[in-house]
Amino acid sequence: MIAAIQALPNGVAALRPLHSSDIPAALYLGWQEGWNQTETDWARFLSLPPRRALAISVNGALVATATTALFGPVGWVGMVVVAPNFRGQGLGRAIVWSAVQALWEAGARTVKLDATPLGQPLYARLGFTATFKLHRYRGVATPQPFEGVTPISAEPELFARACALDRLAYGVDRSALLRALAADFPSLAAYCEAPGAGCGYVLGRHGRRFCLIGPLVATTPRVARNLLAWAFSSLSGQAVAFDCPEPNAEANGLALELGLEPTRSFTRMYLGQEPYSEDTGLIYATSGAEKG
Ligand SMILES: CC(C)(COP(=O)(O)OP(=O)(O)OC[C@H]1O[C@@H](n2cnc3c(N)ncnc32)[C@H](O)[C@@H]1OP(=O)(O)O)[C@@H](O)C(=O)NCCC(=O)NCCS
Repeated sequence: MIAAIQALPNGVAALRPLHSSDIPAALYLGWQEGWNQTETDWARFLSLPPRRALAISVNGALVATATTALFGPVGWVGMVVVAPNFRGQGLGRAIVWSAVQALWEAGARTVKLDATPLGQPLYARLGFTATFKLHRYRGVATPQPFEGVTPISAEPELFARACALDRLAYGVDRSALLRALAADFPSLAAYCEAPGAGCGYVLGRHGRRFCLIGPLVATTPRVARNLLAWAFSSLSGQAVAFDCPEPNAEANGLALELGLEPTRSFTRMYLGQEPYSEDTGLIYATSGAEKG
C-alpha cells in the first residue's frame, strides 16, 4: 500500500511500508554511511512490534528508510537514512514524521531516538527535545579477568532476571527486543551476580564492521566490569564497540580503561509530554542507536 506520493525534480517519491524484500537495498543505504547493521539486524527490526518500518522509493528504487519499535508507552524511531542525492528535498522530514504518526497510532505516548549530528537539526525542527549524549567507544577486545558471570545459554532462567533489571533501568518492558537479541547471538548473552556486589546482564550482536556490545545494565561498576571483561574475553582479537550514556561517568571510564577510544556521539531526543527517563546510572552500554 502506498501511503503518500510526492513529485520531486528527479522522480516521483512513494512513501510506503518497508518489506523484507527491501532489506538488501536498505542495507546498502546504511553501508554508504559506514553503518554496522547486517541482514539479521534488519530482520529483527522488522519483526519487533509495531512492525511499521517505512520506505520511500523513487521510480521503484529505495531511497529512504525508518524503523519503529514500541516498548509499552515509549516508541522508538531508528535507521533513518536518505540516499545522498535525494537529501534536502523533505524526504527525511516526511519519513520521520510518518514513523512518529505510526507510533502514536500504535499507542506510544513518547517517541525517542538517538540522533546523529546530521539528524539532530531535522528532529529539533520536528519538535524533539535533546536529553543526554551517548559516546561510541571502539577498539580491539583483549582478554580480561572476570568472575561470577554465567552465560544465559547455560542457565536460561537467568533471562527473566535480565529482563527485570532492564525494566528497572528503562522503566518499560523491552523483553521482546532482549529475547530477539539473545536468540540471534546466544554466545554474547550473560548474567552476573556478585554476592553483595550487585547484578547485571549483557547482550550483543555481531555487525558488518564490529561487534556491538550492549545493552549492558548493571547495578554496580564492579558487575559492569565483570560483564565487559567476559565479553572481551569471548571476543578476544575482534573489533568491538559500545555506546555509553555520557551521564554514566563510570561507564565512560571503563571504556577508556579497557583501551577503547571514543569515535562518535549521538544525542538522545524525545517527543511527547513525558520523557520516560532512563536510569542512566544503571546503563553502561545501550542497545545501539537504532533502539536506545
Ligand atoms: C538526516 C537526514 C535523514 C536528513 O534527510 P533529508 O531528506 O536531507 O532531510 P529533509 O530534506 O527532510 O530536511 C528536513 C528539515 O531538516 C533540515 N535539515 C536536514 N538536514 C540538516 C542539516 N544537516 N543541518 C541543518 N538542517 C538540516 C532541513 O533544512 C529541513 O528543514 P525545513 O523542513 O524546516 O526546511 C539525511 O541527511 C541522512 O540520511 N543523513 C545520513 C544518515 C543519518 O545521519 N541519519 C540520521 C540518523 S539519526
